[in-house]
Amino acid sequence: MTTSITKVVFPVAGMGTRFLPATKAIPKEMLPVADQPLIQYAVQEALEAGITEFIFVTTPANQQILGAHFNANAELEATLAERGKVAELKIVTETALGVDQVKFCHQDQPLGLGHAVWCAREFVADGPFAVILPDDLIMARPGCLKQMVDAHAKLGGNIVAVEDVALDMTHRYGILDVDHDDGKVVSAKGLVEKPSPEEAPSTLSIIGRYILDGQVFDHLDRKLAGVGGEIQLTDAISATIANVPFHGLRFEGARFDCGSMNGFVEANVVFGLARSADPDALKARLKVHL
Ligand code: UTP
Repeated sequence: MTTSITKVVFPVAGMGTRFLPATKAIPKEMLPVADQPLIQYAVQEALEAGITEFIFVTTPANQQILGAHFNANAELEATLAERGKVAELKIVTETALGVDQVKFCHQDQPLGLGHAVWCAREFVADGPFAVILPDDLIMARPGCLKQMVDAHAKLGGNIVAVEDVALDMTHRYGILDVDHDDGKVVSAKGLVEKPSPEEAPSTLSIIGRYILDGQVFDHLDRKLAGVGGEIQLTDAISATIANVPFHGLRFEGARFDCGSMNGFVEANVVFGLARSADPDALKARLKVHL
């Protein structure tokens, strides 16, 4: 039960069509919320949860950009040191991950989230491993993944982060067919990907955090297309429900859907206020416009 989770997969090979043209030349995960790119919040959440190996599923072009962000940058560090910019130097050095800690693999075509995770199989097939979708940004203390790792130590199996969504939004999410719900931990007898409100077995939706057993690859290996013609991660989790315990965790915290324009702007306001050196001035400026 207490297998430690040391690896995280970041599937960041999507097309980010909802953010064109911002995502024409950079991955969606490099869009900044306040002063940090989305991917950096995700890495920090993983570090807090005890993760030591970071696997990015991306494209060759985006690997350059992500790699540059997480590599040490000796030239920049030297310039900041020369100019006595101590605080800035600390920010830059803290961003760097060890070379051995970072792995990249490529998804040649955006065939779906399940396929993206499958692309990372050689690094994580032994499981268990975590998956974070950085565009689901979560403000939580402790971080959402840490909450899930703690739950996994007790429950084992597959665990996903869940929250209730409006009935008219079920078509955007993987939805749980609930078996038992104690208000915090939910066990489910099935999962339905992107059901219409009429077909949705509940409104309890999976958001972008998973702890998965290596058995998901038994299904992903078959590369079966699901809803929308994409290879769905929820189908693989659903296929293992009889063998691997499955739980949803109602995490404590606030989630921002940074894959959508409104969620992204909302996150910028909330994280901007939290990270600003002068939040009152920012609030006052916002009031001028609202
Ligand atoms: P989304 O459903 O948000 O798709 O993917 P997207 O391509 O990023 O964005 P839109 O909808 O076109 O605007 C959820 C997560 O799964 C990854 C994405 O990078 C994102 O982190 N993903 C999705 C892949 O890595 N590969 C895929 O084939 C699909």
